[in-house]
Amino acid sequence: MYNPEELAVYIHWPYCKSKCPYCDFYKQLAHNVEQGKIVAEYLETLRKYHELLPNRKIKSVFFGGGTPSLLEPRYVAQIIDEISGLWPMLDNAEISLEANPNSRFQTMFADLKNAGVNRLSLGVQALNEADLRFLGRTHNLQTARLCLQEVVQTFANHSADLIYARPRQNLAEWETELKEIIAYGLRHLSLYQLTIEENTVFARKGVQALDDDKAVEMYDFTRDFLNSRGYPQYEVSNFAPDGFASVHNLTYWQGGDYIGIGQSAHGRLHLGDKMLATVYPFVDEELTPQERAEELLLMGMRLTQGINKSDFKQICGLDLSDIINKEKAKQLQELQLVEETAEVLRVTYKGFPLLNKIIEELCV
Ligand SMILES: C[S@@+](CC[C@H](N)C(=O)[O-])C[C@H]1O[C@@H](n2cnc3c(N)ncnc32)[C@H](O)[C@@H]1O
Ligand code: SF4
Repeated sequence: MYNPEELAVYIHWPYCKSKCPYCDFYKQLAHNVEQGKIVAEYLETLRKYHELLPNRKIKSVFFGGGTPSLLEPRYVAQIIDEISGLWPMLDNAEISLEANPNSRFQTMFADLKNAGVNRLSLGVQALNEADLRFLGRTHNLQTARLCLQEVVQTFANHSADLIYARPRQNLAEWETELKEIIAYGLRHLSLYQLTIEENTVFARKGVQALDDDKAVEMYDFTRDFLNSRGYPQYEVSNFAPDGFASVHNLTYWQGGDYIGIGQSAHGRLHLGDKMLATVYPFVDEELTPQERAEELLLMGMRLTQGINKSDFKQICGLDLSDIINKEKAKQLQELQLVEETAEVLRVTYKGFPLLNKIIEELCV
């Protein structure tokens, strides 16, 4: 539900110990990074945003990467303290941090909890040695398992990332990994199909993604398996029991306001009757209602609950029916790929593997 008073804060820590061969996220190697200096810049930027948006309430803070678990916990604490000193935090504000097992030190998770993090998202990626090596991960299976145990013991809210549809991976092997990951009792899972991105080591080496039929088979298996084990799909790649969807990521998908702090971080804001796009360090440009409406369509259709029409109108000022191709929407409904009611427009279970194509068709 859209609430114009609420604000989500993304803190980007774009430094990694090494570069994984599949990853095209903006990142730099973490050698000789002056953490104190960078954090001082972040705090300064937060204060500038507070001058622009003094009356907001914080619903979530997300430390994403790169590898934010390389940021010393005392700096994580300093950033959280600054945010909660500037704005009131909602009672149930979600404060997440993405951790990579390769940055583990003995008291890391306890220190992060003491710093104010209340949701830990662990980048496991694979639960067998051969595939961890293939993915260029610098942690081994034993460390992944140790971190998973520590995360569920330390935090009340948690998530893990795995990459599947790896070359040569078969369904039985994937099922073994899924059974293991759910046994930890995590509150949330992000499961991404391996994408071979341009300008990555995998692309240069000619690593091939699984063919489409096999990838769809794995996708359907994953959705059915997790649904039957209490982790229904709520977004293309995200699964969680009711009430444990990521508050922060829902803000992106549902069009709420957020600011991004850190190189390459971006944001979306309402200011008076204007809609603004921000690119670190500050406000970048004004968006037209049409531009924001198209973004809302792209993001909202990723959710199984679809797009709420009245929220859509409140956020961008346009009717959803005015920006979709009505003829195509009708055809997609006849094919049972899309469902529309007076309140929502959503993609069906059958439609999800074709999501990109469906969105293309719906855009006028
Ligand atoms: C920005 S990364 C940060 C996570 C953290 N640095 C780590 O590696 O554990 C977020 C997630 O995107 C996923 N990811 C990145 N590149 C991907 C790709 N090419 N294909 C599929 N998933 C990918 C991984 O699961 C990763 O955990
Ligand atoms: S997957 Fe994570 S650790 Fe690996 S390069 Fe990307 S951001 Fe860094």
